[in-house]
Amino acid sequence: MTRGRPPGMRVLLTHPVDSRARMRLAERTNLTRWPGPYPIPADDLARELFTQDGLLCLLGDPISSAVLDQSPQLRVVANLAVGYDNIDLVAASRLGIVVTNTPDVLTEATAELTWAILLALVRGVVPARQALLDGQWRYWSPTGFLGRGLGGKTLGVVGLGRIGQAVAARAAAFGMSVVVLGSRGQGPYPRLEREAFLATADVVSLHVPLTTDTRRMVDESFLARMKPGAFLVNTARGGLVDEDALLAALNTGRLAGAALDVFDREPVDGQHPLAAHPRVLATPHIGSATVETRAAMAERAVDNLLMALTGQRPRDLVNAAAWPGRCRYTPVK
Ligand code: DGY
Repeated sequence: MTRGRPPGMRVLLTHPVDSRARMRLAERTNLTRWPGPYPIPADDLARELFTQDGLLCLLGDPISSAVLDQSPQLRVVANLAVGYDNIDLVAASRLGIVVTNTPDVLTEATAELTWAILLALVRGVVPARQALLDGQWRYWSPTGFLGRGLGGKTLGVVGLGRIGQAVAARAAAFGMSVVVLGSRGQGPYPRLEREAFLATADVVSLHVPLTTDTRRMVDESFLARMKPGAFLVNTARGGLVDEDALLAALNTGRLAGAALDVFDREPVDGQHPLAAHPRVLATPHIGSATVETRAAMAERAVDNLLMALTGQRPRDLVNAAAWPGRCRYTPVK
């Protein structure tokens, strides 16, 4: 275990992050860097947290009510992600523990990845590459390796938050029009109710957080109302999709394909029926995975942690219920 200086505020870092942000944290706090294995096992997390004031964790670290209940000194949980469905927010607020996330800095990277896997899916880039590597490219065939075009088609955006807006804004570059499910969010796009939305969209792309309301929102009935031959893209959270229902829709050919960066239970491997499916392009939750974005996320998480620990309202406070009156300590100012 690497213990940093100076003594004072004690912070646990569950995984190595960008070195600049980590050094800043080590200069300002008594930093404990979990040395592995990764992700930190639940028992070790609970034991380590017993004496910590702050936690910088990942979306794969489950911060349950049991963990929080066993952390008597914990004041801040800074999640290195925009999503925070790994944290029991109700328990954190009940205990007066501040929770923060890292919005904004990953918007562009996630929108780019959405388009990268969408384009690769509809043009069959991955199977075409594999065919080349397997020696299957024998000549230029007018009927070989055919994908689908996007021009004149409609992109259906579910969730017009920051990432949904960034994805929608790029649609015009590919000649696509945009429709949006429901009335929330900003943007000059037609808002449709579910039935009309699903009957219109050639590609449905998910950009909502995982909550009790959105869990399994893409179920059998949702999939049955999508256009025959439509595509599904998910760079948000795997729990939004009923994976059995999606598998069935792909097997019957009702859906032409799915590009999935996220899964209900991560990680998955080549044995996972969706990841291995010939109509699926699967990637390992890499929406924000650029050097620039991951560094910016680490800086943002450290900012939030230090702000909360020094009594300032953190920039990306998720549970306003825990600030300031109910937080575990009295903010300095
Ligand atoms: C997030 O931040 O929630 C993404 O899923 C990973 O960057």
